[in-house]
Amino acid sequence: MELYRYLFINKSKIQELCDTFTMITGIGVALVDLKLIRIVATGRCNVNQFLNINGLIQKKVITQNTKIVIQNPKVDPECKSCVQKAFCKETLEVCMPVNLLEQPIGAMSFITFTKKDRTKILQNLEMYQELIDNFILLIENFLKKRLDRNALRKNEPVYRHKKITFENLIGNAQSYLHVIQKAKMVAPNDVSVMISGESGTGKEMLANAIHNASNRRDNSFVAINCGAIPENLIESELFGYVKGAFTGANNQGRIGKFEMANKGTIFLDEITEMPIYLQTKLLRVLQEQNIERLGSNTLVDLDVRVIAATNKDIKSMINEGIFRADLFYRLNVIPLDLPPLRERYDDIVPLMNYFMTKHSSFISNRMVQDFKVKKNVFEFLKGYTWPGNIRELENVIIHMLNMMDDEGNVTLESLPVYMLDENMNFQCFAFSTIENLEKNAIIKAMDFYGEDTEGKNAAAESLGIGLTTLYRKMKKYNLCLDT
Ligand SMILES: Nc1ncnc2c1ncn2[C@@H]1O[C@H](COP(=O)(O)OP(=O)(O)OP(=O)(O)O)[C@@H](O)[C@H]1O
Ligand SMILES: [Mg+2]
Repeated sequence: MELYRYLFINKSKIQELCDTFTMITGIGVALVDLKLIRIVATGRCNVNQFLNINGLIQKKVITQNTKIVIQNPKVDPECKSCVQKAFCKETLEVCMPVNLLEQPIGAMSFITFTKKDRTKILQNLEMYQELIDNFILLIENFLKKRLDRNALRKNEPVYRHKKITFENLIGNAQSYLHVIQKAKMVAPNDVSVMISGESGTGKEMLANAIHNASNRRDNSFVAINCGAIPENLIESELFGYVKGAFTGANNQGRIGKFEMANKGTIFLDEITEMPIYLQTKLLRVLQEQNIERLGSNTLVDLDVRVIAATNKDIKSMINEGIFRADLFYRLNVIPLDLPPLRERYDDIVPLMNYFMTKHSSFISNRMVQDFKVKKNVFEFLKGYTWPGNIRELENVIIHMLNMMDDEGNVTLESLPVYMLDENMNFQCFAFSTIENLEKNAIIKAMDFYGEDTEGKNAAAESLGIGLTTLYRKMKKYNLCLDT
């Protein structure tokens, strides 16, 4: 079992500990696991329906193994790209990594919601920081004990990577199947793949499925998030270093991610965040298939398949000169563009069922068939814009299961308040451009009528456009399998 799952398995005990912490200090606690899925929330974090749509801060805390203090939520640079900023009621947040066996398993946020609580903490920051440090230590020690007990009982190695295969990917919408079909076709070949898609659309999951469908499946899948590692460390993380290569370097030297991934696959997440001088080096490595560790002048041969991912518009970054065009073409041999959830409404119900099954036993000891989800809940979720995509959906389901009544009724009241906030929905819709609306309408029509000629004719008719216009627009929005 993967280590981070220990948070979920021990959820109720952790909830108890966090409740006590909140009761004593008045500070709300919110814990997410390595996958940024919410495990526990207390105090106003819970009432306030604290959910991480993107989990940007937590992601950074986890990958950099560092704490982040946000003294001025909304205006802090860390909050810049948060989609929930406008509705944020926090007055202060301290976010800390949670580790087990020296590996990151999640992040814990300590949050205040009033000016008074904020002042109280800032005036005694050192004391509160010590309290928080000790509290995290308490959780980590508790998990460590559980882990040892389990390992003894089962007599099995405690850490193993879960392998994602194409069977694990839920989704039947045409726009999604297009991508999956293409991914399955290219998976066995060693060709470079570039996955694009908004945050939470399943880029990493897809990359892992591709690796596990290739001949490299018995070797490592090594993921590195270029956006979450400080710029001056990316190079040594990727390529490793030899003894004494730079000040602060470990005495023994260290092997880099590329070498770790030898004979396997390296997943370069958020590739656009890679500094330009390293892009040059990366391109050389990909072309020559060898690397030089920092501080060394011996070349090490490599046999690595590269899958890159981005949620940004790389093409405009090339135009601005901040991403190298030649590297882009080297990585973008097979582009896979994952659609956002709002373009695959048909998948919402299957995904809901999947997540309900996944989380039900831990949350309520009930079977999925006992849940009575009101029809208007489905309707609402199908109409919602899902800025945080599948990750948000999963968090919403966890929230829903926590908030349903004793009879298992899931009503609109069981949903996080922010979703029901008219303003929020209005904001999300307001972000949709005319082009997006048009693209969505075409996708929906194609989903409904099907991809064959007859389907396209019917789709064009229902959209009130001619068949040639439909083809032209499909091409424009990259909706054809052969583009
Ligand atoms: N097709 C799918 N079926 C089931 N679960 C999925 C699917 N796609 C994504 N998920 C779940 O959604 C969450 C987000 O997926 P993932 O981390 O792969 O997204 P991402 O695009 O890499 O996100 P980010 O841009 O934030 O890094 C994960 O918990 C994952 O398990
Ligand atoms: Mg990712």
